[in-house]
Amino acid sequence: MTSLLLRHIGELVTNDPTLGDGSPLGLLTDAALVVEGGRVAWVGPAADAPDADAVQDVGGRAVLPGFVDSHSHLVFAGDRSAEFAARMAGTPYSAGGIRTTVAATRAASDEELTAHVGRHVAEMRRQGTTTVEIKSGYGLTVRDEARALAIARVFTDEATFLGAHVVPEEYAADPAGYVDLVTGPMLDAAAEHARWIDVFCEEGAFDADQARTILEAGRAKGLGGRLHANQLGHGPGVQLACELELVAVDHCTYLDDHDIAALGDTGTVATLLPGVEFSTRSPYPDGRRLLDAGVVVALASDCNPGSSYTSSMPLCVALAVREMGMTPAEALWAATRGGARALGRDDVGHLAPGARAHYAVLDAPSYVHLAYRPGVPLVVDVQGPAALAGG
Ligand code: NIG
Ligand code: FE
Repeated sequence: MTSLLLRHIGELVTNDPTLGDGSPLGLLTDAALVVEGGRVAWVGPAADAPDADAVQDVGGRAVLPGFVDSHSHLVFAGDRSAEFAARMAGTPYSAGGIRTTVAATRAASDEELTAHVGRHVAEMRRQGTTTVEIKSGYGLTVRDEARALAIARVFTDEATFLGAHVVPEEYAADPAGYVDLVTGPMLDAAAEHARWIDVFCEEGAFDADQARTILEAGRAKGLGGRLHANQLGHGPGVQLACELELVAVDHCTYLDDHDIAALGDTGTVATLLPGVEFSTRSPYPDGRRLLDAGVVVALASDCNPGSSYTSSMPLCVALAVREMGMTPAEALWAATRGGARALGRDDVGHLAPGARAHYAVLDAPSYVHLAYRPGVPLVVDVQGPAALAGG
């Protein structure tokens, strides 16, 4: 097995508190890292680095775990920039816009959708993302949901069945019938391609009873549950996620003290999606309040054509720091190890020996530059799985 020594690392983020400075980021300065067989084999001070078959000098730059983007909706067609422009002129965001993308996605060919996902995945990777979760949810027929998941699976193992995104037009008069479809034939067709099942639990989408029914049906088929909740207003979704002990509940924009206490008690990860608040001109969730209550926080892009058309985890980190009361260290952890926690993964999101050697090199001396230099393309090298290269 060939080994590679990365040397002259100005700052290495391991996300292992037993390493380096003992902080949650496990920071080492003037460090080195050895990769062998796709895994991290050794990390430590540059002066103690072992020999390796190949050596790469990173010139004093910062090296960090690749971002783990635990929430995206990349299988879609069409453009909703006019909706965004209208919002910036004062029209509020509504879940109804999802139906516009459903129509465009149904009309697209498999090849078009696959190429479109590939472009976005490549775009993510260029910005340092090495693990991505991809949801269905813009098909909403048995055939269209199954094909969306089959396409997602070309690029990631983390595919999520979101047949319960909204009730499609043709079921507008029969939402109960649509829940039957989602929990019956649609789930049957989706389950073989998916690892997760998700529901948009919100006014205008699905209520808590419907969400519970759908999540339990998914669980019975072996899928892990996750939830979109408390995005547009306060609702029952976060409590439901905690009661069902889901691995993660996403958005969490509107929370009360009971929600925060429940998240702290159960360990359900609160995944914050600041691209949504940016793109819908909404109030940002209070990351500080969650962290101070001991809640595990993840950051993800929610890349989708309606509420958050960004693929940039560095942007999410910068927004979390500037708008959500998080420190650069907390935001970086949330975008890497926090995302891994939200996917129940222990092999990614950190760079301790044994972890997958998925990392990003920044053209900067410190990870702090992700927030300090917002909008600047700092990622100069990314190592991660081949599928994330976009094909
Ligand atoms: O995560 N909240 C529900 N779904 C997406 C939005 C989808 C859309 O507007 O197309 C989200 O924000
Ligand atoms: Fe989403």
